[in-house]
Amino acid sequence: MTQEKITVQTVQARKAGPKLTMVTAYDTPMAAIVDRAGADMILVGDTLADNVLGFPDTLAATVDIMVHHAAAVTRAQPRALVIGDLPWLSYHILTEETVRNAGRLIREGRVEALKLEGGGKRLPMIEALLAGEIPVMGHLGLTPQSVRAMGGYRVQGRQANPARELLEDARALAAVGVFALVLEGVPDVLARAITQAIPIPTIGIGAGPHCDGQVLVFHDALGFHIDKRPAKFVRQYANLADSAIQALRTFFDDVQSGSFPNDAESYHMPEEAERTFHTLTTPPQ
Ligand code: KIV
Repeated sequence: MTQEKITVQTVQARKAGPKLTMVTAYDTPMAAIVDRAGADMILVGDTLADNVLGFPDTLAATVDIMVHHAAAVTRAQPRALVIGDLPWLSYHILTEETVRNAGRLIREGRVEALKLEGGGKRLPMIEALLAGEIPVMGHLGLTPQSVRAMGGYRVQGRQANPARELLEDARALAAVGVFALVLEGVPDVLARAITQAIPIPTIGIGAGPHCDGQVLVFHDALGFHIDKRPAKFVRQYANLADSAIQALRTFFDDVQSGSFPNDAESYHMPEEAERTFHTLTTPPQ
């Protein structure tokens, strides 16, 4: 594995393989863990709204929230390329507003590229970002910011015509100059067709095995949820929530039994100071 900083160019070159890996992170220790594990890309996803801040969906994420968390991630100084999500309504209305919001994520959050959701209707905004020298990652398929418009979190492109439209969107995004494309919640056959049709890497999540890379949300991959059933596409590689609960219960038991803290975990006075302290504080008989 190369130890050199991963750039947009590194990612583009990996269309030829080996496969790319991306994991979300929302703060400094998460970013350090993901980077130490060797991820190619870290995504400061707007999924921080539901995974970290307790909201029911990603619609609650704002530019201020994204900047705050992006800055925490980039303070870990990862080798991985750090990509920040543009949140809902930060790039939907005016191109000027889009570039200004993106500029905040780059300047204050220190991310190295931005991701935004959607196809053809986003082309003017993407062109404006690229004209501002901001690398853009696309995101098609089950785009969570469209949850209301889609009527829920539904796999997209299951039928031939919507699948063809998604393929056209992917071609349009690649042609305008996005450097990579997330495909979320689409059938494997469609993801394979898109991956074969465009010259930029595709990164799948719930899109089958044929993409040029895969992304998972930190909390899903590591089992850091309480009482949440993982989606069908998630493979859970650890159960950090259970490990944390067990560890904390052991801490509470140790407090009750008096075994924590022990002598080595306590601070001591020099012997002479301790004797003098007792003399000064023991009342005369
Ligand atoms: O915000 C996010 O975490 C994402 C991934 C699910 C791709 O967009």
